[in-house]
Formats: sequence, structure tokens, C-alpha cells
Amino acid sequence: MEFRRLGKSGLKVSALSYGAWVTFGTQLDVDAALALMSAAYERGCNFFDNAEVYARGQAETIMGAALKKSGWRRDSYIVSSKVFGGALENPSPIQRGLSRKHIYEACYQAIERLQSGYLDLYFCHRPDREVPIEEVVRAMTELIQRGDVLYWGTSEWSATELMEAYAVARQYGLIPPTMEQPEYNMFHRYRVEVEYRRLYLPETIGLGTTIWSPLASGLLTGKYNDGIPSDSRFNLPGYEWLKAQTESPDWEDTIAKVRALAALAAEVGATLPQFALAWCLTNPNVSTVITGASRLAQLTENFAALDVLPRLTPDVVAQVEAVLGNKENSYYGSSE
Ligand SMILES: NC(=O)c1ccc[n+]([C@@H]2O[C@H](COP(=O)([O-])OP(=O)(O)OC[C@H]3O[C@@H](n4cnc5c(N)ncnc54)[C@H](OP(=O)(O)O)[C@@H]3O)[C@@H](O)[C@H]2O)c1
Repeated sequence: MEFRRLGKSGLKVSALSYGAWVTFGTQLDVDAALALMSAAYERGCNFFDNAEVYARGQAETIMGAALKKSGWRRDSYIVSSKVFGGALENPSPIQRGLSRKHIYEACYQAIERLQSGYLDLYFCHRPDREVPIEEVVRAMTELIQRGDVLYWGTSEWSATELMEAYAVARQYGLIPPTMEQPEYNMFHRYRVEVEYRRLYLPETIGLGTTIWSPLASGLLTGKYNDGIPSDSRFNLPGYEWLKAQTESPDWEDTIAKVRALAALAAEVGATLPQFALAWCLTNPNVSTVITGASRLAQLTENFAALDVLPRLTPDVVAQVEAVLGNKENSYYGSSE
């Protein structure tokens, strides 16, 4: 396994990690979750990602039970949670969001469900535009000072919001965010590659990234090339929004690209998921790629992506660019 520093922090996170979204609580029970986590851990994975909102707390409960059953030393893995969406089906306004109250309560509830004693990483799952960023930075700083959280970060915050958090932290002697959790894959690149570009510099935030949906929810495995498999995520209740993309006017064009990428993967002796995961790791600003898997065979296939990484030479990457045609360099057009 390769380990990368989480931004400018001293924490070394495995280049491939494993997350609980969709799968834990919906597709996997405690024993199945432990089987997949064990396969990842045995391959050097040291980071397991979670959030209060995943299966409304159930994903954390399952991960906590699996970690307990595993018998692994607490100092041998990193576990995260994220606050924002709430863990209840219909949260009241104080049971969700980034108020100081909900940040505190969500943190202690996550620690309880995960049975983890503390959270290594704690993310603000989305920006909350009804809460001053200073309130968020203060709450996170205090949780770190109490020893309940080791590093705090954000997920899908704009570069402007991140710089505000950094500036507030610097102004009041508080702790700035260490890491951001953005979506990043071959089809979704702008924020990680362009918008955040300055934030990675050690003289600014020195931001680390724990990137999500590296396979675009499975699209970059080729499994949707000939329709929607009945046992796939796109067919789960509550994920109709994922399935809806198959009806978009761009779908055929996207699938043509997926087929062309699969051909490039085959040329370097990789499967498409391995190739697509390794491609994410060619970006040095990616600290870890959070993989998702609902089956053991997927996880074992995906964790071999590191063997493929050295085969993604500049020439191969250029061929990928030619297929994708979506590389952007300009700041203009940012979605902030
Ligand atoms: N911060 C955020 O807002 C946010 C949002 C989303 C995710 N995340 C984090 O990122 C993690 C990964 O995201 P993701 O699950 O969307 O990742 P992904 O890698 O894009 O998709 C994973 C899914 O693709 C399918 N798959 C994976 N490997 C496969 C293979 N080799 N062959 C065939 N199918 C394969 C499986 O779905 P099927 O069950 O359909 O087979 C699997 O559950 C999450 O668990 C979560 O921790 C964070």
C-alpha cells in the first residue's frame, strides 16, 4: 500500500480507503461489512469513511460493531464521520446543519455509534449558509482541544468558503480545516483540479483531499454499458436520482467514452475500475481515494489499482485526456 500525507498534516493515510455510503445498512450487515473492511485492512487500508446521515446512523452503528468484532488496535486505523444531514429520518432544524449545538451532538453520537472513543477525521458534510463560518471553526477547534476529534475538514465547500474558514482560524488563533472531501473522478474534475488549486499550497491551507465516488457510482466500471443490472445501486429505492442520468441526452456519449476507456485499460493490462481508480491517484493533490464496494470481489479487484498506477505513464494519461476531452485550466466558470 502507498501512504500519502493528508495535506500538510503529519497524518499518513492509505492511498486507497473504503467508505460506507449506500452499502452499510442497505446492502451490507455487520458480518458482510467486516468481511469487506477486513479485505481492505489486510491490503493496507487504514481509513474507513462514514457520516451521520448514511442510512440515518445505521452505517456508523454497523461499522462500529464491525470494528469491535475485528479486534484491530484503535491506533491502526483512521475512522471518520460527517455532520450536516442529521441521523434522524425527519430531523428538526436543531438536529441537522452546522450550528455549534448540532456539531457537538452529532460528534458525540457518532463516537457512540462507532464505539471509537474519538473521531480521527470529522467533516462538515456540506456548507451551512445559515451558520457563520466562525461558529463552525470555533466548534471544531473546541472538539479538537477536548480530544474528541483529531483533524477537521469539509465536504463540497467552495474555495471561497474554505479560505474564509482559514482566515477566521488565523485571525482568532483557531484551528483551520486540514482536509476536504470532494467528488473526483474522470467525469467530475473542475473543483479538485482548478477551483482548489491554490488551496493545496503549503503557504495557504495546504489542503488534503479524501475524494469520493471515484468510479462515478459504478459508471466507470462499465457495468451500465448495456443497461442497468438489477442488483446494482442504480436500482435501489432512494437512488432514483442516480438512475435518472441514464435518461439524459448525454448518456450515449458517456457510455461511448466508458467503452473507449475500457479499451485503454485493457491495453495496460488493467480492468476499467482499476484503471479509473489509479487515474485519480495520478493527481498528487489526492491524499486518498475513498472506494466503495458492495461485494468482496469488487473490493479485491479495486484494491489492485495500486499495481496499475505505475502503468499510467504520461502517454497513457494523454490518451485518457483525448477520450475525455474535459480538462479545464481556467478559474473562470467556477460554480461558487
Ligand atoms: N462527502 C460526500 O458527500 C460523499 C458522497 C458520496 C460518497 N462519499 C464517500 O465516498 C465513498 C465512495 O463513494 P462511492 O461508493 O460512490 O464510490 P464509487 O467507487 O464511485 O462507487 C462504488 C459502487 O460502484 C460499484 N462498484 C465498485 N467497484 C466495482 C467493481 N469493481 N465492479 C463493479 N461494480 C463496482 C458498487 O455498486 P453496486 O452495488 O451497484 O455494485 C459500489 O458500491 C462512500 O462510501 C463515502 O464514504 C462521500
